[in-house]
Amino acid sequence: MLINNWYVAAVEDDVKVGKPYRVKMLGLWFALFRNKANEVVCVNDTCSHRGGSLGLGKVNNGRIACSYHGWEYNSRGRCTRIPALGDEVKIPGRARVDCYPVVVRYGWIWVFLGDLPEEKRPPIPDNYPYYDEAMASREKWGIVHLNYEVQCNWARSEENSIDGAHPSFVHSSFGNKRDPKLMLVEPVAHEWGSSTYRERPPAEYRNLSKMTQSVLEEKRGNNKALTWFSIVGISHLIDVERSNGVRHITFAARTPIDVDNTRIFSHQVRNFLTGPEHDEERLEGRKKAAAEDTVVSQNVNPRYLPRSMSGELLVESDQNEAPFRKLIYRLAERGWEIDIDEAERQGRYNALAIPCPLRRENPKNWIAKPIPTTYPRRDD
Ligand code: FES
Ligand SMILES: [Fe+2]
Repeated sequence: MLINNWYVAAVEDDVKVGKPYRVKMLGLWFALFRNKANEVVCVNDTCSHRGGSLGLGKVNNGRIACSYHGWEYNSRGRCTRIPALGDEVKIPGRARVDCYPVVVRYGWIWVFLGDLPEEKRPPIPDNYPYYDEAMASREKWGIVHLNYEVQCNWARSEENSIDGAHPSFVHSSFGNKRDPKLMLVEPVAHEWGSSTYRERPPAEYRNLSKMTQSVLEEKRGNNKALTWFSIVGISHLIDVERSNGVRHITFAARTPIDVDNTRIFSHQVRNFLTGPEHDEERLEGRKKAAAEDTVVSQNVNPRYLPRSMSGELLVESDQNEAPFRKLIYRLAERGWEIDIDEAERQGRYNALAIPCPLRRENPKNWIAKPIPTTYPRRDD
């Protein structure tokens, strides 16, 4: 699991005014709440007093109050009130919790789990304008949303999505059973990921859902498919266009709940049958495909990615998976990968935190210990 990355913590509407929202990411608990300006704030869930959960507490006047003795923290994670000591007392400097940058995009709350200053943070993908277009009007796009959890490691799960060769074997309603050969193309690298754009023979007509059948001819040309992934938010965009222009574009992000469990957030827009009366049928198709993927990816052995490229036999058709792994290994060497064994050991007696940007101003005065990484930090 990688620190110094943006992750989707929740759907925007999950975080209500006046109530904390507790969420686990990368094996640690976080609390989200809305401050007086109605902005979402994300803090480490563990109170600096005696380890109580902030997310199980309350929100008083836009400040989060711990569930145990009511210490209140502001939008920068600073404790501003210790009720048992009264209002006159000076608050100790270490009475604070890590506090993370937050951005709302695509209806999701993205949090930056790391300490990089703003100019060094990777950009949240901005190549899905279809979300705002579809939410504003159904004229051009229909849209469905699917969020779910899998008992599967985040990297195993993401590799399954960006894998161009699996649909012919895993999916009943798409992929081509008779012609599974992948048209190989040169992957195009970008700073935080890569993409492939290729033609694919269309799926057998009889396997298509009724909804898709209704907008396609049995005899038709190849599909064109763009698969673009970014390590930022463990996200990807898959744009499939049929020979008659029928198109759907999926954008998904994955958040490791812990090393064995992953939360998936996704939107899919379509340029056919765009009215909301077709959403349920489309969503059923999405759920069916997700269930098919889940069976495969939950049963991969070993549960996590091997520690090097030679640990499994990647071949030329693993066109997105190879750059995905290389990127993960490269970021691990920067000291951005959590050492899960060491974190478990240290975490028994210490509250651990992913260092937030505020620690750069004052690295010492914190109760929670920085989470251990597999390599020493060398990003700056
Ligand atoms: S543990 Fe949070 S106020 Fe005591
Ligand atoms: Fe799939």
